[in-house]
Amino acid sequence: MDPDISLLGELGNTSIVGLQWGDEGKGKIVDLLTGQFDYAIRWNGGSNAGHSVKVGDKKYAFHLIPSGILRQNCVCVLANGVVIDPIALLSEMDQLAGQGVEIGANLRISSQAHVVLPYHKQQDQLSEDRLAAGKIGTTARGIGPCYSDKASRTGAVRMADLLDDRRLAEKLQRIVDEKNALFSALYNAPPLNWKDIFQQVRDCGEQLRPHVCNTTALLHQALEKNKRLLFEGANAVLLDLDHGTFPFVTSSNCGTGLAAGSGVPATRLNTVLGVVKAYCSRVGGGPFPTEQDNEIGRKIRDRGREFGTTTGRPRRCGWLDLVALRYAAKVCGVTGLCVMLLDVLATFDSLRICTAYEIDGKRTQWFEPDAVDLARAVPVYEELPGWHDSLDNLESAEDLPPQARRYLDRIESFVQVPVRVVSVGPARHQTLIIGTGVVAMR
Ligand code: IMP
Repeated sequence: MDPDISLLGELGNTSIVGLQWGDEGKGKIVDLLTGQFDYAIRWNGGSNAGHSVKVGDKKYAFHLIPSGILRQNCVCVLANGVVIDPIALLSEMDQLAGQGVEIGANLRISSQAHVVLPYHKQQDQLSEDRLAAGKIGTTARGIGPCYSDKASRTGAVRMADLLDDRRLAEKLQRIVDEKNALFSALYNAPPLNWKDIFQQVRDCGEQLRPHVCNTTALLHQALEKNKRLLFEGANAVLLDLDHGTFPFVTSSNCGTGLAAGSGVPATRLNTVLGVVKAYCSRVGGGPFPTEQDNEIGRKIRDRGREFGTTTGRPRRCGWLDLVALRYAAKVCGVTGLCVMLLDVLATFDSLRICTAYEIDGKRTQWFEPDAVDLARAVPVYEELPGWHDSLDNLESAEDLPPQARRYLDRIESFVQVPVRVVSVGPARHQTLIIGTGVVAMR
């Protein structure tokens, strides 16, 4: 049986954010909630994000399109802050159509969204390859180069440009010329032909034309009609360009940029749900104080099937870091926590949970986002009893083993935000709603 989401109370306009380094299981929460919403909105990132949703025995993979597309009456919006690879988007649309998902007028794409072009993906890879040490370990989806070009303004291509041949040709001719100079001087890479790129993306633009519109206007019209909006954050707070573990971050404000990325001010939000794994994982480079590069980490990875949805890379795994979690929850104003993958922690005799860092001999409970400083943080752990009972078939929060309950209580008391949803498996029915009270802030 699907969980009774109404136990969370009236959510109002809701934002869902990942509170660690991504892959927390936001997709499952979004999927559970979208039935209550009229709009599902992506406002940051691009096809670097990835989540899968299991409905019955069918599994769907999403990178750009909100999983709200599985619900017939939900309008799915790729707002201005998303960077869109039109080739990847069309292939995702095709794949979903092949699985019987109808994508018509319910997919809306901002004309102001920036376009990830083939040279962005190439630049992403070339730049990573050139960094001998200190690689970011990007997903090579062209995200960083596209956002850099957006900030440069003169190097940018937006969705509106794809729909106008003359504008697109002028821009590509000039930009590809600059890229060729850069690629040849810096990476010794062969030149690109702007006409090939033009043809390829122009055709994509034609196919996407019916979906492109002014999504800021669309969303404000929706607000005027009291429609319910669900904002689907991609990536996660500790990868936020400003508030994450810089420079090992992605290139968008994935914890804090909702207003800029959608045109909807944060004052219109009623609920912010923070999604967190019962442990930590990270893909790519960067500091990770509670990482367990040992048997424990391997056990978590195997039990949690911790391999990237987008790149297939094995994820680094470790104990839950409450210092990082509390920071992340503060930075994005979380009103309720969803703890995912609790089932993965079954079979450990005891569990560790980080409640402070020692940095240069000083103890702190405040997260240090600077990557160099964080790399010196030594975690201070509390030890909690584990449990051996499988959680896979639990029907109610009352049936949680007392040790699991205690683990959740410790999260709640440290972060000072109620844990309201607990996931114990990938399926919709493997979800427990716990506690009472209101998650919405107003
Ligand atoms: P980029 O976003 O491809 O530039 O990658 C920058 C960093 O963010 C790399 O460490 C990626 O592994 C990480 N990253 C980006 N998106 C996600 C995500 O959705 N889940 C997990 N890690 C991500």
